[in-house]
Amino acid sequence: MKLAVLREGAAGEARVAATPETVRKYIALGASVAVEHGAGTGASIADDAYAAAGAVLGDRVATVSGADIVLGVQGPDPAALTGTASGAWLIATLAPFVERARVDGYAAAGIEAMAMELMPRITRAQSMDVLSSQSNLAGYKAVLDAAAEYGRAFPMMMTAAGTISAARAFVMGVGVAGLQAIATARRLGAQVSATDVRSATREQIESLGAKAIFVEDEAGIEGEGSGGYATEMSDAYKARQADLVSAHIAKQDIVITTALIPGRAAPRLVSDAQIATMRAGSVIVDLAVEAGGNVEGAVAGEVVVRHGVKIVGHRNVPSRLAADASALYARNLFNFLSAFWDKEAGRPVLAPGDEIGDAIRLTQGGQVVHPRLLG
Ligand code: NAI
Repeated sequence: MKLAVLREGAAGEARVAATPETVRKYIALGASVAVEHGAGTGASIADDAYAAAGAVLGDRVATVSGADIVLGVQGPDPAALTGTASGAWLIATLAPFVERARVDGYAAAGIEAMAMELMPRITRAQSMDVLSSQSNLAGYKAVLDAAAEYGRAFPMMMTAAGTISAARAFVMGVGVAGLQAIATARRLGAQVSATDVRSATREQIESLGAKAIFVEDEAGIEGEGSGGYATEMSDAYKARQADLVSAHIAKQDIVITTALIPGRAAPRLVSDAQIATMRAGSVIVDLAVEAGGNVEGAVAGEVVVRHGVKIVGHRNVPSRLAADASALYARNLFNFLSAFWDKEAGRPVLAPGDEIGDAIRLTQGGQVVHPRLLG
């Protein structure tokens, strides 16, 4: 059973899908591992480190030749997979609803493509959840990016030259990224408040020592929400939320937005008029910018200034912490493949009807099979 680890081709992608640690573990399961030259460079992993772990280094053609399983971070061009074993698995984040033509290409090439970001939110799959592992790091990095752009300090400082007051940080959207953003901003000494539409987050916000800011007179989403996910809110709720944000945001120095709704554009939470009420030099980081943005005027891949406020829209924030993001992503992939490892077959086997396999498998037997991709 040959496993291939690709060097990522997408612009700005510094992560890698296997680390020397997971290479050793795959080999211990009985696999052979081929790694494309330079695959780990962006994550500070040298070819030698993979070789020391037992991998064979080579060019793309040699790496994928005869491979039974190909590991990636983002989806490769189907042509780059020429020469894999028949029915080879491709395990990566494949953005199937955006990159539909690519999915068709995998099917035509006889590849069985699995999109790790479609992992169901069930207890058994928690250690395989790439969205969680990457969002956690993104939430942390968003606060550091804000601090780096901010021309003032986060903590209160009492010095001989006078006192500096603590920055006020507001986190909008308290899922995995938002919780980590709250914790990070608190550690840096900011006064933190946060909001979400799911009522279960109120206690989570407070347990991190932050202030919960919630719409009170219009019903939000009870508890965790289905699978931990939010849905689009009613117009009445949105109007109440806009009033609440308007009253609160003018007093904030730092705003971190992380709000996402699965299968839809990100909800718009901060308007240009609201930004205009903020103090000059304030910083907004929009982690949802690639999903359409929570903040009016945010531009993917840029830091723009509106009304004296910096709006940070970095793309692919997990890749900005490529070493740790790769370590966690690589473990998610190993946890998935090893959970289904069949000793006799010497490879992972996904039984038909398995909840995890059915949720993530996009193509099989030359066909696109995922229900959400079938018209
Ligand atoms: P997400 O990335 O889909 O969304 C981020 C946050 O934005 C969510 O908390 C959502 O409620 C919030 N949001 C959406 N619309 C909003 C609006 N209009 N205004 C304010 N906030 C809005 O969520 P994420 O981070 O993927 O996870 C959310 C929950 O799912 C967490 O409670 C997490 O613990 C749970 N989870 C469970 C997993 C498992 O059991 N395997 C795995 C991953 C997450």
